[in-house]
Amino acid sequence: DRKIKIAPSILSADFANFGQEIRAIEDQGADWVHVDVMDGHFVPNLTFGPPAVKAFRPHVKTFMDVHLMIAPVDPYIEDYAEAGADMITAHVEAGPHIHRTIQAIKAQGVKAGVSLNPGTPLESIEHVLDLVDMVLIMTVNPGFGGQKFIHSGVEKTRRLRQMIGDREIHIQIDGGVTTETAPLVAEAGADVLVAGSAVFKGGSVDKADVYGDNMRAI
Ligand code: DX5
Ligand code: ZN
Repeated sequence: DRKIKIAPSILSADFANFGQEIRAIEDQGADWVHVDVMDGHFVPNLTFGPPAVKAFRPHVKTFMDVHLMIAPVDPYIEDYAEAGADMITAHVEAGPHIHRTIQAIKAQGVKAGVSLNPGTPLESIEHVLDLVDMVLIMTVNPGFGGQKFIHSGVEKTRRLRQMIGDREIHIQIDGGVTTETAPLVAEAGADVLVAGSAVFKGGSVDKADVYGDNMRAI
């Protein structure tokens, strides 16, 4: 059946050593590297612009999964694609034209994801399912790592997997994924798990084996 991929979020990594941190999680078995872009407008936090993502790129050997928590999103799609994103995920809440946004991401030749916040109904993305490679279900209100998992995301995942049917679309869960919550969403149909604090806690570039232990536990 479905193999579960782990996508550690570098939002929880050491902000003074991103290159080493990225290499460490990939050496320890990360499937993807999840890059949380925040603009201080769509979410109450500010993280990485295109130059930062461009600097991460040479250190990523697996797959650079860029989660854009920004609004408006369309003006920046080309910049993040040129910075080296393998996938760009936009929020359905970020503007009025999600169908056009997904088309613009695909026009850059990268994989396209759509994300929805905990309070946003699945129906909002029903009409772009034929366009996307992935749906990201937020199980925290976006902006920070280390928050508590919002359990309504489990049934939401199950319903989404039914909506998807036999289409090849990843379901990514993002927020509060731990050893306790991961099995719930995996059973409900998720196949990509983002984890920030659960992967990076207790480890460091000098204790990268802790990252591996944390990932294997999830
Ligand atoms: C939150 C981000 C998540 C977050 C996950 O807005 O989109 O990717 O970094 O961190 P944890 O796994 O600690 O909830
Ligand atoms: Zn994220």
